[in-house]
Amino acid sequence: MKKIAILTSGGDAPGMNACIRAATRYALNNGMDVYGVERGYQGLIDGRINRMGSRSVSDIIHRGGTFLKTARCPEFKNIEGQRMAADTLHAFGIEGLICIGGDGTFRGAKDLADNCGISVVGIPGTIDNDLAYTDFTVGFDTAVNTCLWAINSLRDTMSSHDRVSLLEVMGRHCGDIALYAGIAGGAEYVIVPEVKYDLKAIARSINQSQKRGKTSNMIILAEGAGDKDEICSVIKELTGRTVKTTTLGHIQRGGSPDMFDRILAARMAVRAVDLLKNDVSGRVVGIRNNQIIDEDITEALARPRKFDKELYDIALTLSL
Ligand code: ADP
Ligand code: F6P
Repeated sequence: MKKIAILTSGGDAPGMNACIRAATRYALNNGMDVYGVERGYQGLIDGRINRMGSRSVSDIIHRGGTFLKTARCPEFKNIEGQRMAADTLHAFGIEGLICIGGDGTFRGAKDLADNCGISVVGIPGTIDNDLAYTDFTVGFDTAVNTCLWAINSLRDTMSSHDRVSLLEVMGRHCGDIALYAGIAGGAEYVIVPEVKYDLKAIARSINQSQKRGKTSNMIILAEGAGDKDEICSVIKELTGRTVKTTTLGHIQRGGSPDMFDRILAARMAVRAVDLLKNDVSGRVVGIRNNQIIDEDITEALARPRKFDKELYDIALTLSL
């Protein structure tokens, strides 16, 4: 393939820019023409495509978000929308498409390949780390570090006031952000959607920890695990402690990507371009045991959700 396009879709993630930059420059170095699609699948439908050179991706490696912009595009879920997108690609003579995003983006890419014969390769760009076929997604590490920054600040004030902190983090239906941030931030309790939790037991344990000399506690709640206001009022009632809730929200989606996400983005981008260069389609790129891999998109999407129970048990052990 000689002519490819790149888009970012779904929720943005730190490292998407580094990924676009790496894919663009590597493809150019391999003699390919590169196009950037604005606003994900919506941009394909609307024909918003621009030729990219090396300078188009200057000075973006350190920026969060995505300079190509992103969108959620309901119209693309229908065959009519997909056909319009494919028509745009044909009109520009584009032979292959790199789609950077999460599972929804991959489902869209698969439809484009299955229903319209477009060659596609996916790169996982989402803070949620909710794709079972890859150990990590681009953006996850930076998001967890942003949570850590918040946890550090919360610890300062919570310990000064002997309070309980309940911090809600993102992740949609996946508890990885909460789990990793919880362990790295020294939280006592991590509440995730993958594990049934018992608020009475958590409250009991907060009371017992007080007897052991702990004056403040940190609970990290994954947004998909439960209602923070309900959890807060139950813990308050059962412990008699002051519980302060914080929702980190979209702060954890932005910010300069860290080293891990920039390197991951570069390595995945190179594999994605290599696949298209060799006329391979319908694959998603990932990382397993620090090796870059690619897998059939249908198989990758069909994998059952993963959860690192060993890591969760470590979180429990260290919370004593
Ligand atoms: P993410 O890629 O981060 O999971 P979304 O779930 O919002 O984010 O998906 C991004 C976009 O991908 C959607 O707005 C839509 O255009 C497209 N998409 C999602 N699911 C499908 C699907 N089942 N079929 C076709 N396109 C889809
Ligand atoms: O998928 C990334 C994510 O940030 C989730 O963690 C969160 O549930 C969702 O997107 C928020 O979406 P929006 O930015 O549309 O509110």
